[in-house]
Amino acid sequence: MKVSGFSKLSKLAKIEWLIDNHFGGNEKARETLLNYWHSDEKLQQIHDEFIENTLTNFYVPFGIAPNFLINGKNYTVPMVIEESSVVAAAAKSANFWFDKGGFKATVKSTIKIGHVHFTWDGDHFDLLDNFITSINQKFYSETNSITANMQKRGGGILEINLKDKTQDIPNYYQLEVKFETCDSMGANFINSCLEKLADVLKSEINSSELIPNQVEVVMCILSNYTPECIVRVDVTCPIEQMVEGTDISAQKFAERFTLAVNIAETQPYRAVTHNKGIMNGIDSVILATGNDFRAVEASAHAYASRDGRYSSLTHAKIENGIFNFHIEIPLALGTVGGITGLHPMVKFSHQLMGNPNAEELMMIAATVGLAQNFSALRSLTTTGIQQGHMKMHLLNILNQLEATEEEKKMIVKYFIKNTPHHAEVVDAFQRVRGGEVLK
Ligand code: MEV
Repeated sequence: MKVSGFSKLSKLAKIEWLIDNHFGGNEKARETLLNYWHSDEKLQQIHDEFIENTLTNFYVPFGIAPNFLINGKNYTVPMVIEESSVVAAAAKSANFWFDKGGFKATVKSTIKIGHVHFTWDGDHFDLLDNFITSINQKFYSETNSITANMQKRGGGILEINLKDKTQDIPNYYQLEVKFETCDSMGANFINSCLEKLADVLKSEINSSELIPNQVEVVMCILSNYTPECIVRVDVTCPIEQMVEGTDISAQKFAERFTLAVNIAETQPYRAVTHNKGIMNGIDSVILATGNDFRAVEASAHAYASRDGRYSSLTHAKIENGIFNFHIEIPLALGTVGGITGLHPMVKFSHQLMGNPNAEELMMIAATVGLAQNFSALRSLTTTGIQQGHMKMHLLNILNQLEATEEEKKMIVKYFIKNTPHHAEVVDAFQRVRGGEVLK
């Protein structure tokens, strides 16, 4: 049966409704929700008010990866993620590159783009184009009350251009607007500017005798595709330093690693998994710092397809005995606004890294992505991924089996030398439960 007015119920009434309608009044289900409430009411209220219909909190681990040497500065990076091996992999990679000079990062550009999407059924593009050029100053002056503060910080509207899109859709045009949003991600700022620009566009054109046809605004929205908001991070070392710790030679490791990257560059099936590994690292930092991981994901994958074929976001080469590995990725991030000043753990994350500005955060997040990819390829091209992966996942399996602390200790020790597969862990657990001492 459809429920009406649900959002207006109190939190407890919502929980009652849910438990009665979906859990047959089950007390345990209610307890699960209540157990995750924070005991500090004020703190809980902050979380309640982030979204609508909040019932409780949803915990995800918050971990840290130390030893990230980026442009000579040593960072300890906060990571929020549920996947067992991600933080360990980032930390391992940070450690590997620390002694080789660390990561070299540069922000190449910070422009964001938004559009007023509109239709105009006139025939003469030049007429529209000239008119829009003639009211260009008005666009800036009419948005001044929105942009004044951003301008003081060095940002604002950079450019406004008319785009003829009638080849794609009849009568369809865009005002394409470029923005600099400084340390804020800028979504609200951009969308507010665009809506104001749309008002100006409509009122100027529809009241002008110079333009016979009317415009109709379809929508105003920023684009999450940010190919002009790019960060690049490199690691470099002489091939002989690519000592990996297994029995593979440094030369062989560097060559196989480079080939693995080349496979991702040319094979979309591999590129998707390769980039997913990169995003394991980046998303963890994005979440910890209160940024929008959906926006970052959407942009990264669009960028990976910019040449018409989905490809790798990282690249590797060996030249004159030097190994180089780099990432280039769009990252539209903010260090002010959104929930950055509100969520206590987000604030903590920013403090942990010395309150970076947006450009510094772009460099940190991209570095963690590169590091993550390095670790994944390192394992894939040497021991295989399952060794590290299953070791980290072992505790999840044991927790699912409700192993005691003693049992866990014994089983973890038992699997130190072998890759634990699920069935073997279950078998080991059953033997320990049955009283066997594993050797
Ligand atoms: C797993 O979450 C990520 C990897 O599959 C990435 C990769 O294959 O490069 C290990």
